[in-house]
Amino acid sequence: MKSSLSARLSFLSSFYTDFTEVWDIGCDHGHLGLSFLDVKTVKRINLVDPSDLVIKTLNSNLKDSYITIPDKIVVKHSKGQNLKIKSDEKKIIFIAGMGGKETKEILNHIEKDLNLSDLVLISPHKNILELRAYLNSSSFRLYKEAVIFENQYFYQVLAIGLLPSMSKVSPFGSEIWLSPLGQSYRLSLLKTFKAHHDPISREFVAYLDGLSY
Ligand SMILES: C[S@@+](CC[C@H](N)C(=O)[O-])C[C@H]1O[C@@H](n2cnc3c(N)ncnc32)[C@H](O)[C@@H]1O
Repeated sequence: MKSSLSARLSFLSSFYTDFTEVWDIGCDHGHLGLSFLDVKTVKRINLVDPSDLVIKTLNSNLKDSYITIPDKIVVKHSKGQNLKIKSDEKKIIFIAGMGGKETKEILNHIEKDLNLSDLVLISPHKNILELRAYLNSSSFRLYKEAVIFENQYFYQVLAIGLLPSMSKVSPFGSEIWLSPLGQSYRLSLLKTFKAHHDPISREFVAYLDGLSY
């Protein structure tokens, strides 16, 4: 089964270090999770999706593939909001390509099952302010944040975990604005958010306007 990674998914996978369990929540084609198949330290790859079609296609592709270690792969037909992920393994968890609302619900649900050594990578495609507001008021802490540009869209990527020594997630972002790509992203967001008139959007525009580079 071919598992080619886009630049965005490749960036997400680059956060892997010595984790023993991989969770690809909202896996769709499964490329991200399956990219860890040959990584010797990975004991288990969990591919999760609530879509009947996704699971059917995934199972059929896996059956027809040349993968020789299927025991390592677990396909779960489930919403991320219903998952049980508790284990003693060191986990890397990907929640990418969903809306901020779903991402927030999944994070809220899995938080109780996370160990301090686990790392969660999120990359929502919309409602980022809503998600950041939640993260800012939660126990999640920021390890790293970045912005990626793919197929004419910007995506925020946040690496988060529960280690109290890490910093809080800022409501509007901090590191992401520093790179040249971050500056293009800022201009693009200013254009979008200036058309919105709710208090949070106005506050965000004022914040972006105030960044002087
Ligand atoms: C756009 S695809 C993203 C695929 C891949 N993660 C990526 O970033 O390229 C979104 C996937 O999330 C799944 N999905 C939607 N709601 C979900 C939920 N609540 N829990 C888990 N997966 C969900 C969809 O079925 C779909 O396969």
